[in-house]
Amino acid sequence: MNPRQPLVAGNWKLNGSRSSVKALATALVDGVSDVTCDVLVCPSFVHIQDVQSVVANSAIKLGSQNCSMQSSGAFTGEVAAEMLQEFSCSHIIVGHSERRQLFGESDSIVAKKAAAVQNAGLIPIICIGETLEEREAGNWQSVMSAQLDAVTAVIGIDGFANAVIAYEPVWAIGTGKSASSEQAQEVHAMLRSKLAELNSSVAAGVKILYGGSVKPANAKELFSQPDIDGGLIGGAALNADDFLAICRAAG
Ligand code: PGA
Repeated sequence: MNPRQPLVAGNWKLNGSRSSVKALATALVDGVSDVTCDVLVCPSFVHIQDVQSVVANSAIKLGSQNCSMQSSGAFTGEVAAEMLQEFSCSHIIVGHSERRQLFGESDSIVAKKAAAVQNAGLIPIICIGETLEEREAGNWQSVMSAQLDAVTAVIGIDGFANAVIAYEPVWAIGTGKSASSEQAQEVHAMLRSKLAELNSSVAAGVKILYGGSVKPANAKELFSQPDIDGGLIGGAALNADDFLAICRAAG
């Protein structure tokens, strides 16, 4: 029995129209009654208000895929965590590998974003993960440590009491090739034991999600691992039946 309430989060990425996201959110609200895990959806910024109106008064929580590390000021094109809080967002994804690889977000920027989310009273979902080259070179442990240490240096170990970690191996995202449950569990256990060196009760309480080609067919096996507390779902989150099946696999 997992001591942590599982969370399944849908990362809708750059997808959807106003009508399609409302239809997807409506199908999730209609189907979520037999789901016992926490469920979160993260639409694009411009769709958040539409989705908010659909999921209000349901069990489905709302989040965003990114935010600024700044809270206000002359930062053209940015969106602050405080602004997202006004739309009832509870969580914000930071440091997704697409942000790191395509938009130049460094470990240090990701850490500042995690702090900005917490300063707004919200929960960051902090994404970390190694590339295929790093895994094949046998470097995943040092890469994971560096990405985690950069965040710990800014939010402190206590900050993880109000944070979620998402382990997303870059080679598994959108590729159809999930990490095996053993591979994922090995990384999750390493991350938790690294945090436990600083504070064992914070480490025992922090949710560590797995992300990367989670599907209805592999979700149960992944989520049954002792240190996997749910998932961050991309492609399969765009289909209500698949996403709900993944949620049911988490509890
Ligand atoms: P995927 O994406 O489920 O499509 O692999 C996961 C993610 O990017 O969070």
